[in-house]
Amino acid sequence: MEFYDVVRARRSVRKFTGEPVPAEARKRIAQCVVAAPSACNRQPYRFLWIEDPELLKKLRTVALQPDILNAPVVVAGLVNCDAAWRDDHDPRSVGEIDLAIAAEHLVLAVTAEKLGSCWVAAFDTVRAAEVLEIQSPWRVDVLFPIGHPDPAGTLRPFVRVDADEMMKVL
Ligand SMILES: Cc1cc2nc3c(=O)[nH]c(=O)nc-3n(C[C@H](O)[C@H](O)[C@H](O)COP(=O)(O)O)c2cc1C
Repeated sequence: MEFYDVVRARRSVRKFTGEPVPAEARKRIAQCVVAAPSACNRQPYRFLWIEDPELLKKLRTVALQPDILNAPVVVAGLVNCDAAWRDDHDPRSVGEIDLAIAAEHLVLAVTAEKLGSCWVAAFDTVRAAEVLEIQSPWRVDVLFPIGHPDPAGTLRPFVRVDADEMMKVL
C-alpha cells in the first residue's frame, strides 16, 4: 500500500475475527517499529506481542471497555522514562513522545498488512503491569488489540478539524 493510502485507511478497529495474525506480518511490523526515531536514539520503549491464550485471557480483564481487547493479538507498549533523553534544564521526559512515535509506526504497519488495531489507553495500568510482570521503572503505557477486522464491526464517524485550521501557515 502507498503511504498516503495507509494513512487514510487507518481507523480504530474494535471488533476482530479470530483468524490468527501470521508470523511474517509480525516480523514486518516489528521492522517498522525499529525504524522509528527517538530522542538521542535512546529507544526507551519495548513492545510485547501477546498471543498466548492464557495471558490474553488475563490481560482482557484489565480493560475498562468490555471486549476491546478481544483480538488474537494484543501488543503492550512499555516505556522507561528514566532511560529517555532529558534536558538538564527541563524536568520533562520525552519517553512518552518516543513511545508514541514507535507505536504509531506499529499501527500504520498493521494497517499496511490489511489488519486492524486500536490505541487503548483506558485500562488499569497497575493490573496490566502485574499480569505482564513489568517492574518499575518500566510502565505499561498503551495496549493495541490487533487482528483481522470483523466485517460486522462498525467504525465510528470520521470527524476531524479542517486541515487549514489544524496546520496554520505563518
Ligand atoms: C492515545 C490514545 C488513546 C486511545 N484510547 C482509546 C481507548 O481506550 N478506547 C477506545 O475505544 N479508543 C481509544 N482511542 C482511539 C480514539 O478514540 C480514536 O483514535 C479517535 O476517536 C479517532 O478515530 P479513528 O482512530 O478511527 O480515526 C485512543 C486513541 C489514542 C491516540
